[in-house]
Amino acid sequence: MSREAGSGDRGRKTAAAPDPSGFSHPDTVAVLAGRRSGGAELAPALYPTTTFRIPSLEAGSRMALDSAESRYYTRNGNPTVAAFEQAMAELEGAEASRAFASGMGAVSCVVLGLCSSGDHIVAQRQLYSGTRFLLQAVCPRFGIDVTLVDGAEPGAFAAAVRPGRTMLVFAETPANPRLDLVDLEELGAIRGPLKAVDSTFAPPSITRPLDFGVDLSVHSATKGLGGHNDATLGVVSGTAELIASLWGFAILQGANAAPFDAMNGLRGLRTLGVRLERQSATAQRLAEALSDHPGVESVRYPGLASHPQHGLAKRQMRLFGGLLAFDLAGGSGAGERFIGAVRLAQAATSLGGPETLVAHSASTTHAGLTPGELEAAGIGPGTIRVSVGLEHSDDVVADLLHAADEATG
Ligand SMILES: Cc1ncc(COP(=O)(O)O)c(C=O)c1O
Repeated sequence: MSREAGSGDRGRKTAAAPDPSGFSHPDTVAVLAGRRSGGAELAPALYPTTTFRIPSLEAGSRMALDSAESRYYTRNGNPTVAAFEQAMAELEGAEASRAFASGMGAVSCVVLGLCSSGDHIVAQRQLYSGTRFLLQAVCPRFGIDVTLVDGAEPGAFAAAVRPGRTMLVFAETPANPRLDLVDLEELGAIRGPLKAVDSTFAPPSITRPLDFGVDLSVHSATKGLGGHNDATLGVVSGTAELIASLWGFAILQGANAAPFDAMNGLRGLRTLGVRLERQSATAQRLAEALSDHPGVESVRYPGLASHPQHGLAKRQMRLFGGLLAFDLAGGSGAGERFIGAVRLAQAATSLGGPETLVAHSASTTHAGLTPGELEAAGIGPGTIRVSVGLEHSDDVVADLLHAADEATG
């Protein structure tokens, strides 16, 4: 642990913060990371300013082109945002990170910042619907070919790669909403294209995609990383070179993170470990209880032995997370009755926050899919996704079992 004196505000000496690089456990890193200011404050300092005084013309032209510069113009970089980015890089085991105005800001920068007309992308069918629309509807408009594969099928990504043409392989694990997993070791071993993984459902205390040879880790930090439903935020982590090259597109795309959201994101990271432990323990209890309910046809949770990729989950996830999905007998009528019957859980589309949320996938998160696409994605009329919150597990389990009784009894 570093105890050297740092120089704080107005040249005053301040005690240095503990150095997160001295600790290997992500929960400890999450508490310590991203304190680049050198000041004595423990909570992140908010810099709402859009711009900064430039010391000289020479310095200005250097600052304008430096992806790591956080005191030139806030669309390019900002000290509060840089603190969140530094924290994420430390947590991901990455050289650098870039924060965005949302998860989709991050995803679209990776896809459109890396790929050009004539390039080819391999992605999985089981994707967050916004990412899927970007790949299926927007990419073809720019002459980018996309092949969608079953991400849970061994060897499927590698088999679809076109040597010399595939620029990007894009995966999401666990995937929204049915918690299908992608084998990260297998993905990381693919040679040629860049590999990006949306790891929103598995924040770094659960899985660090870069440890498996993946090039870019992508998150909607609106979810578990921020963790309080008060920051709309995205982040991409990787080598300094890759992040600098994405920065060149990002400052034109303009989907930079707002300082206030980055501050809330950094505040959320401090409790990441305990939140994920609590949510994972409650989700496991809930998944087991729902599996025994006569009105529930199937439950998808990576921590259940019945999950077809439970062995893979044990290899690449430290915890199984707070997300699960299940299918009610009785189709969409049962789905609607279930949503109407919950008393503690709330019907809303996000995830990873303190409140338990339930979503009827076919009519909310995946509403834009055709019936055929819904079926191919395994989303039925009775599919419910649950994001387990921080309430006591007795209350969460009792509420959802009661709603399942009401919906199917
Ligand atoms: C897996 C995944 N990736 C990306 C996104 C998009 O994130 P945002 O809503 O912050 O743009 C979501 C949103 O639900 C998501 O679930």
